[in-house]
Amino acid sequence: MKNLQDIAQQIYQKTGVVTSTKDVEKILSASAATSHFWEIITLSQRPFPVVAEVIELLRQEGLVEVDQNREIKFNSKGMEYLKSLNIAPKKVYTCPHCEGRGINLSQLEYLVRRFDEITVDRPKAISNYDQGFVTTQTVISRIALMAERGDLEGKKLFVLGDDDLVSIAAGLSGMPKEIVVLEIDDRLVNYINDTAKKYNLPIEAMKYDFRDKLPEKYLGYFDTFITDPPETVEALELSVGRGISTLRKEGCAGYFGVTLIEASLEKWNIFQQILTSKFKVAITDIIYDFNHYVNWDYLLKTVGKPYDFIQVEPKLNWYRSSMYRIETLKDSKGIENEYKPCELYVDEEAIIYKGEDK
Ligand SMILES: [Fe+2]
Repeated sequence: MKNLQDIAQQIYQKTGVVTSTKDVEKILSASAATSHFWEIITLSQRPFPVVAEVIELLRQEGLVEVDQNREIKFNSKGMEYLKSLNIAPKKVYTCPHCEGRGINLSQLEYLVRRFDEITVDRPKAISNYDQGFVTTQTVISRIALMAERGDLEGKKLFVLGDDDLVSIAAGLSGMPKEIVVLEIDDRLVNYINDTAKKYNLPIEAMKYDFRDKLPEKYLGYFDTFITDPPETVEALELSVGRGISTLRKEGCAGYFGVTLIEASLEKWNIFQQILTSKFKVAITDIIYDFNHYVNWDYLLKTVGKPYDFIQVEPKLNWYRSSMYRIETLKDSKGIENEYKPCELYVDEEAIIYKGEDK
């Protein structure tokens, strides 16, 4: 039987994603707790291709079996293997009320209802811009979080990319003084502007590609920014760097989600160095699994068909990201210049499967 070190090494060779024995252990523990592929990803919080390849390897080693419903199950040999490694099924003790965010929404229930009513005709998520929007609970929790940290009430808010419609939730809360959305998708720009007009919300949305320079008037203009970037290192750096350059002075805040599903800890480390050394901001919060995404229609079309157990419809909102909050210091500096052409959506950790179809 392979030891965890050998498995980790083999997965690294296959995927190009640096994989530790701890990563493998987490995937085994998650697989022992659920038989559904997308839930194994949620529970293990490891990059998509790594999880897929570990499960396939376990199958090849005769430790797990995939039944006709594409459920992944350890057989008796697999159970013995887990026991020999002292790996137990993953435990979950997350608070069911706030889903682990630590935000009590009972005072904002009207906002949850109002947001759902108003956005019922929102544009559908499309793959062109890597869209996938968050749940209403998540959007309103973002509003509550920003308000609680003193970053929303009476402040100027910048939303960079807004398929989540954070601008509308913020407008409905009545808290920000001004909200500006820069967004690449015309459908969303029009939808947000139409909604703002209809409900008299202080929002202005404009078309913008975050590779371009920001409009001059927005540099050093806002108190707070929020964005939900694609997860190549370049995209993380660029979107957050853009956000920081729009902030007025020290003590301003930025919010953004980063997953462990499309970003390994190696990538987190590189990005955190960019935040602290290049942009010179302080990371004040990382709230695990804060952002829950509504399942998007195009998932199974874009993941490819490398293994049968991947081609199953998700049962729960499996895709999640941690919420980062950063705060600017007196020497903080973002990105103001044009950006060189770079890959923004796909790297070896992305959900879009780059291996061969079988
Ligand atoms: Fe809670």
